[in-house]
Amino acid sequence: MQPKSSNLQYFFVSFVSLLILRYASTAYSGTFEPLPPAECVTRDQPNPIASLYPTNATGTLNGTIAILPISLQLARQLIPPQYGILEHAYRALLPSFPKGMYPAIVQAVHDHEVQAFGYKIPDFTRAGVEFPFVDLLNDNYTSFKWAPSLLMTAGHDLALNGAKDYGTNTFPATFDPGCDAYRRVKSDKPGTTFFSAKSDEPGAASMSTLFSSTELEEFPLQFFKNFTNQPTFADGKTCDNMIRLFDTNVTTTYGIQRVKGTVRTQMPPFSSEHEWKDVYGLRLDTTFIENNYMDCKTFQGYSGFE
Ligand SMILES: *[C@@H]1O[C@H](CO)[C@@H](O)[C@H](O)[C@H]1NC(C)=O
Ligand SMILES: *[C@@H]1O[C@H](CO)[C@@H](O)[C@H](O)[C@H]1NC(C)=O
Ligand SMILES: *[C@@H]1O[C@H](CO)[C@@H](O)[C@H](O)[C@H]1NC(C)=O
Ligand SMILES: *[C@@H]1O[C@H](CO)[C@@H](O)[C@H](O)[C@H]1NC(C)=O
Ligand SMILES: *[C@@H]1O[C@H](CO)[C@@H](O)[C@H](O)[C@H]1NC(C)=O
Repeated sequence: MQPKSSNLQYFFVSFVSLLILRYASTAYSGTFEPLPPAECVTRDQPNPIASLYPTNATGTLNGTIAILPISLQLARQLIPPQYGILEHAYRALLPSFPKGMYPAIVQAVHDHEVQAFGYKIPDFTRAGVEFPFVDLLNDNYTSFKWAPSLLMTAGHDLALNGAKDYGTNTFPATFDPGCDAYRRVKSDKPGTTFFSAKSDEPGAASMSTLFSSTELEEFPLQFFKNFTNQPTFADGKTCDNMIRLFDTNVTTTYGIQRVKGTVRTQMPPFSSEHEWKDVYGLRLDTTFIENNYMDCKTFQGYSGFE
């Protein structure tokens, strides 16, 4: 793909304006302002690829990704009607996936040390239900991921506006834990972790997950690699090319855990609260390189980062 200098510029402009804002607020806040509350300190490992791709946006994503099986009929109702669903594409990867079903996915991740040109933005958390294998270009071939709504760290205007620019329905939210991907909780099952998010607007959107470790490899790792790397869109005007790397040391040193558990969500495009029990997923950290606001058409035939 040809580099687009406008995207580079977009990043540069956002990061520089963030810096100016921060500078302005420290310069003018004076000595009368109360001290801000102590920042919570994340347990996330540093971004190991920032210096490899200094002029790209890079970061790490720590959290949980799981498959939410829904009926194809429901998927068809939720995904905008102008876009086909590439059932043959997910069946090629998951031959035994139940007939008449579609793999929606849940992602609840902590974005850490996101940076470009040496400028880092504060960490944030986001969570949502996403719909992979969508035929955005109507070519019956290229898979895109539709991510219509996100719960995102309240007050993080850069991240919230960055998502809104894709047409994403964003819900400023409070997360538990506040600045990590999940937290350990006591349970009779090993390796149990909890995560929750609640929109600041009461009742607008929420999610909670409870996952335990499992030995079962219900879905192949290649399936997770495949859908997490599909170009992502909301209103379809531009696409986010987030390249998730599974072979850097935040993943290889700290490992990928297979998990099984319960996900509860109340957020669009679902019209009511849903609970999925015994869903399978991964708990992991990966690095990423992100190319924002790309022309979706340039991804025709794209099948991942080489
Ligand atoms: C890094 O950014 C440039 C310019 O936007 C882009 O052309 C290139 O593909 C990006 N690198 C990766 C690995 O995505
Ligand atoms: C991911 O987050 C969990 C929960 O905070 C933490 O225990 C784990 O060490 C993190 N993994 C990496 C590679 O940063
Ligand atoms: C991961 O890689 C980075 C960059 O090469 C290095 O600085 C860091 O120490 C490594 N971390 C571990 C745990 O190996
Ligand atoms: C993702 O899966 C589709 C088939 O369903 C395949 O054409 C494509 O090459 C895969 N891409 C990656 C990166 O595995
Ligand atoms: C889409 O492609 C698949 C696999 O190549 C094929 O089986 C199917 O008939 C095609 N659908 C249409 C509408 O062309």
